[in-house]
Amino acid sequence: MGLLQQLSAVLGGGQRRQHQEDLLTSLLVMAWMVEARDPYTGGHLWRVSRFSRLLAEKIGLPAGEVARIAIGAFLHDLGKVSIPDHILGKKDRLTDDEFAVIKTHPEVGWRMLAGHPLAVLAEAAIRAHHETPDGRGYPRGLAGEAVPLDARIVGICDAFDAMTSTRPYRRGMPIAKALEIIRENLGRQFDRAFGEVFVALGEAGELDHIVGHTDEGIPLYDCVMCGPTLVRRRTQGAGDHVYCHACTGVYVLAEQAGGLTAVQAGRTASPAELEPEADTDLIAQVVRDSARALLN
Ligand SMILES: [Fe+2]
Repeated sequence: MGLLQQLSAVLGGGQRRQHQEDLLTSLLVMAWMVEARDPYTGGHLWRVSRFSRLLAEKIGLPAGEVARIAIGAFLHDLGKVSIPDHILGKKDRLTDDEFAVIKTHPEVGWRMLAGHPLAVLAEAAIRAHHETPDGRGYPRGLAGEAVPLDARIVGICDAFDAMTSTRPYRRGMPIAKALEIIRENLGRQFDRAFGEVFVALGEAGELDHIVGHTDEGIPLYDCVMCGPTLVRRRTQGAGDHVYCHACTGVYVLAEQAGGLTAVQAGRTASPAELEPEADTDLIAQVVRDSARALLN
């Protein structure tokens, strides 16, 4: 019996469903705290979750497992909230001591989450997403099939998004180049069978609607200084402001042929404007999708 079904057994109908959805919401709200901590990676967690869901579906996993993997992908980097800023945001190569600190984030994330009633849903993704088939990953150096299924999927998707995302200090690489790197490292850094499926998805153009996006149908908008870093919420439209968290530039959304564009407002954002926010609409959508699959 699955965890959510166990919870179902002790609660009545509508109340039961609401309780389960509340628990899932609380998990995902925590995921957004990670994104608030590292705002330069706008939409990273949504994309990793979306890629992971797509890959899990393509592999043919049942809906309940797909939903679990999509949730684990949102939470995989939870432990990064404990990494000091000067290490998390360092642009140069990390020293051995600094890398040793980075390597603590999978186990720290798991220990922080472990008291949550649904923690087990995300355990594998959190603890093992930096393990690799060749056993050279961290923290435990697991190899091959010993790396849990969820982590093998999330590990591929996390690396792909890191390669194709633009950061303030470097442009994201083209999709084809990132796929080539995955292909070259199959069986070493990336699970061979799952990696091959992922590369095939990419070559078929089935990842294009996720790369450079922050929600279904919503692309990142371009900051003239920093590249595609501007995040638009689903509820925002023409006339609304969006902000670059890298250079603090303010932009106004404007209609143009084929959609919206971001136009410089000619000023920098105030601290209040740069405050991170959890995207409650997006969280609610993910919870609805996941709850349905986990229960049925
Ligand atoms: Fe990580």
